[in-house]
Amino acid sequence: MRRSNGFPRPLLTGNGVRAGFSLFMHLAYKVGRSAVWRVRPKNTQEDNMRQLIWAAAAIAALAVSGPAMADGPIVIKFSHVVASDTPKGKAADKFKELAEKYTDGKVKVEVYPNSTLYKDKEELEALQLGAVQMLAPSNSKFGPIGIREFEVFDLPYILPDLKTLRKVTDGPLGGRLLKLLDSKGMTGLAYWDNGFKQMTANKKLLAPADFKGLKFRIQSSKVLEAQFRALGSIPQVMAFGEVYQALQTGVVDGQENTWSNIYTQKMHEVQKYATVTNHGYIGYVVVVNKKFWDGLPADIRAGCEKAMKEATEYGNGQSAKENEDALAEIKKAARTEIVTLTPEQDEAMRKAMMPVYKDVASRVGQPLIDEFLKETGRSPIN
Ligand code: LMR
Repeated sequence: MRRSNGFPRPLLTGNGVRAGFSLFMHLAYKVGRSAVWRVRPKNTQEDNMRQLIWAAAAIAALAVSGPAMADGPIVIKFSHVVASDTPKGKAADKFKELAEKYTDGKVKVEVYPNSTLYKDKEELEALQLGAVQMLAPSNSKFGPIGIREFEVFDLPYILPDLKTLRKVTDGPLGGRLLKLLDSKGMTGLAYWDNGFKQMTANKKLLAPADFKGLKFRIQSSKVLEAQFRALGSIPQVMAFGEVYQALQTGVVDGQENTWSNIYTQKMHEVQKYATVTNHGYIGYVVVVNKKFWDGLPADIRAGCEKAMKEATEYGNGQSAKENEDALAEIKKAARTEIVTLTPEQDEAMRKAMMPVYKDVASRVGQPLIDEFLKETGRSPIN
């Protein structure tokens, strides 16, 4: 055993323990989840699943030690839901390359893209359990685990550009928001960009009235729910990995996303229209299992932090270009008509979504919304 971090001594050491631990947690999670889904009535599924997961975690924690206990490379499983060829996918791959380099191979990062390991909500539960170590969920996905504050980033038209976003994420508010994750067993490491959202549907969306009665897939954010309700639509929470099929089969009529996500998931092939609205932002919080992170030897953690800093600069430096390229590809494919709004139509869309600020003030927190706006130096309608 190379080092001690206060955990009980493991029965075995080496790669076998690490691989076994990870596999055990993964299987425990999957088995627990499927068992609950089979036997429990719908309204108690989530609660029971959580209990099962935590029970599995407790048993596993008694059986083996934390990941920094044994010899051999420390494995960081990095799970995400988008394609590799996206801003998040590329930043994750860059982190892998740099973390392995800066730790001289003492860390091995395994990146699992495209929901191959877990879908949206599952991946956060898996991280808390310790079945994976690192994720980069969008700001919109932290509500279900009890952190509503990140939903402030979902407010319509709150950010005019990425430069303004940086004032928040690089400032004191961004730092304070990351600290909120500690209480959920996570450490927030960085903010990664995707970009601005557009609206797609099989109907031309030119005015708020066009949204009325349409079903829109949303991420698990109450702000996004309020946004589509303000437009008279029916919002439906759905995992990212299920959106293409839901659009194809008509389970939902439309969705909002960045050009990069629309293109890499081929949504443009099953949506007749995409309206350039830039009405909202999708960005990510890179999170790591806190116990795992705190248990890393200082030199290894420093190498990973350096890798994260550089991967963040790399990813955020090219996200806008990646979205532009994706839009160009969508235009080239000519499967969806790109609709642009006149200034008057754009103004009407903004006005229709403004009530959202009041609707969600008690959930997200009015002082937080005010502080966010102050840091960006603007009012949302401008
Ligand atoms: C979505 O669910 O639409 C996005 O958050 C997916 C992602 O991670 O970009």
